[in-house]
Amino acid sequence: MDTQHPDLHPLFAAHLSLLKQRSDAALARGGFDHLVIPAGSLRYQFLDDRDYPFFVNPHFKHWLPVTRAPGSWIIYTPGRRPKLIYLQPADYWHVVPDSPAGYWVEHFDIVIIRQADEALAEMPKDPVRCAILGEENSALDRFVPNNPRGVLDFLHFHRFIKSEYELAMMRVASKIGTRAHRAAERAFRAGESEFGIHMAYLAAARQTENELPYTNIIALNEHGAVLHYHDLQHAPPAHKHAFLIDAGASFHGYASDITRTYAADDAGEFQALIDAVDAVQRKLGGKVRAGLDYAALHIDAHHQLAGVLAEHGFIRMSAESAVESGVSSTFFPHGLGHPIGLQVHDVAAFAADDSGRTIERPPGHPYLRLTRTIEPGAVVTIEPGLYFIDMLLARLKVAREARDIDWKRVDAFRKFGGIRIEDDVVCTTAAAENLTRDAFALLDQA
Ligand code: GLY
Ligand code: MN
Ligand code: MN
Repeated sequence: MDTQHPDLHPLFAAHLSLLKQRSDAALARGGFDHLVIPAGSLRYQFLDDRDYPFFVNPHFKHWLPVTRAPGSWIIYTPGRRPKLIYLQPADYWHVVPDSPAGYWVEHFDIVIIRQADEALAEMPKDPVRCAILGEENSALDRFVPNNPRGVLDFLHFHRFIKSEYELAMMRVASKIGTRAHRAAERAFRAGESEFGIHMAYLAAARQTENELPYTNIIALNEHGAVLHYHDLQHAPPAHKHAFLIDAGASFHGYASDITRTYAADDAGEFQALIDAVDAVQRKLGGKVRAGLDYAALHIDAHHQLAGVLAEHGFIRMSAESAVESGVSSTFFPHGLGHPIGLQVHDVAAFAADDSGRTIERPPGHPYLRLTRTIEPGAVVTIEPGLYFIDMLLARLKVAREARDIDWKRVDAFRKFGGIRIEDDVVCTTAAAENLTRDAFALLDQA
């Protein structure tokens, strides 16, 4: 399907030339001659011969859509074609990585090796002249990852801006994710357990857990109040009230990150609260544009969500005082979102520039994951939420503001857990592109 997109050849060529430009500048910045990127090495369980799932070095998958090639390397020297040292071991115990094929192959000098240490013969002469980006356990002889700060700061800062090729990958990741979300919603409506919904999701995404960009959150009822709920109850609850699902998909190394919340048919006013958060979410997503200060948008989200709390009778104070006093943080205790791309929580989220300076979080918002200024090509999540979290409510109950809370109403909503709505949004030079809503809309048309 989308893998055969007719435009991938030119898109990839343009992506690669962008990476080369950035790498040339990063190497010049750090005073290095070569960029050396190990894909990574397998890790083994303590005292065992079982390896952990392999997750490729994101710097490696930035250069080509290969995510399962431990022991492989990319070598880039400015002015030369990049070289892929590709480990295809002689091995009858395991599946050997596929031979290189597809739209990206023509851009690389490819050297196939059969043993990891054969890569040494293909390396630049002097390791000291190399910026080697990778994990410690990728070291090969004198080629030990040095991860020079200046090189990383530069590459990470610019990685925030996606190429057209990367956006094409992310559109597919969103399509896979939304398709699976629909299957999960059907399973919820059919009365499945969290485990059953999770399995329906995986089947529809056609991805195993290790292929997903992050661990699914499949939360029924009050479990929605656990922000990172990673349990999976095997039995359905006696009564289903609500379903919060935060689940994404991967495509060629790129992630989608999607959250939806559903009310059971008899959930009464909870659906109205979901609709209100959904309206806030859409409004915030629509504000993603060049020059936007994301930290300011996070504060804006607090004001809007506090307005929802007031309108729906949970608090008896103005939105302003709810934000000022911190009451809004009881109900919305996480950040509005983060950059997304090769990693679900992508790098350089706090960068002020490409030389390592950072932008602080606003005081009182310790969990905000993104403070930088948005630019065209940036992809960020917009994920406001409202939750009924016992631990945070208990703290509010003993605070001065407790008298301005309708506790009866709050208590009546605990069984729903919480609400989060999350989309992946691209900043363009015009209106924002909402990858998630566009993908859901396509499913509706089908
Ligand atoms: N699914 C992780 C997140 O939303 O940040
Ligand atoms: Mn997210
Ligand atoms: Mn998420």
